[in-house]
Amino acid sequence: MKNYKIACLPGDGIGPEVCDEALKVLEVVGKKFNHNFEVRTALIGGAAWPTHGNHFPEETKAICDWSDAILYGSVGGPVDQQFEPQWKDAEKNAVLGVRKFLNLKINLRPARIWPDLKHLSVLKPEKIPEKGLEILTFRELSEGLYFGEHKTIDNDGDRLATDICEYHESTIRHIAKFCFEAAKKSGKKIASVDKANVLDSSRLWRTVVDEVAKDFPTVEYEHWLVDNCAMQLVKNPDWFEYILTENLFGDILSDLTSTFSGSLGLLASASFSEAGFGLYEPSGGSAPKHAGKDRINPIAQILCVPMMLRHSFGLETEAASIESAVNQAIADGFRTYDLFTEREGEKKVSTREMGQAICDRI
Ligand code: IPM
Ligand code: MG
Repeated sequence: MKNYKIACLPGDGIGPEVCDEALKVLEVVGKKFNHNFEVRTALIGGAAWPTHGNHFPEETKAICDWSDAILYGSVGGPVDQQFEPQWKDAEKNAVLGVRKFLNLKINLRPARIWPDLKHLSVLKPEKIPEKGLEILTFRELSEGLYFGEHKTIDNDGDRLATDICEYHESTIRHIAKFCFEAAKKSGKKIASVDKANVLDSSRLWRTVVDEVAKDFPTVEYEHWLVDNCAMQLVKNPDWFEYILTENLFGDILSDLTSTFSGSLGLLASASFSEAGFGLYEPSGGSAPKHAGKDRINPIAQILCVPMMLRHSFGLETEAASIESAVNQAIADGFRTYDLFTEREGEKKVSTREMGQAICDRI
């Protein structure tokens, strides 16, 4: 029996309770398909502060190093406590810290509309095709504005703040190749998004994407300016399949597309290093006000598991069995509070009940 080593970093707020459900699902799959998933749990974010005085302690780094893949929860504290040491910069230190430590360079953020949950989408029904909708954002995660130098100077009393946006050709080439390879396999078309009418980093982005595209003559792609892309995503969402873009634009556009699903509680995401090491996390945050109430939707965290099984371990059948169990639980009417609309056939359930409904369908 092969042993798969998983680091679980539940983090803050709802992180621990939704990670529990994801681990339950993992256990069921392990039993059913005869795999051994060895899980070690470690502290991250505000949860690590009381014992370590640090949002990403050495002990956690060591467990990340030990693992074959990471199941990550969520980090961040209550808004009214954000200046207390436990929470100040917790997200930045943990989220950006982990990305830097593991050298995560590509972030996949799927957004989808389940046919059974169409009514929850912010989009008008006539914008949503019968089969639902699926848009996958390929967000560059290691350069751009978030990782350039940040500084504020006094500037003779008229304070001046600067953030530097840098992009290396090699970084752009890496994510572009990854996206084009995926598109070649799936037959999806790519919208490459930049602001090339203003920014040099975007001009380089466009040039390198064109160069990469030459090796993929069968892949359909178009360049989009980010402002126009945001508008067209809302007006004409069905046009979009893959979005390939840099760090800041990917952060913003993936939040935009996440509203199509109707709940952040449904969306997982995956990040990869150049060597293919993967970290899997839900798209939403730590939602501290819902923590510990057995009420939040665990699906986003649960759907991290099939992404991990598929991309890190190559276990496609196992991954598909979880995805179809989630679809079945939705089709059978199980609804956490964020999905519940009192329609016929809907059953309002807790976090644990939703987790159990999914386990029962694997
Ligand atoms: C995200 C988050 C992070 C980001 C923050 C917390 C730094 O918004 O993962 O989208 O912007 O990358
Ligand atoms: Mg974000």
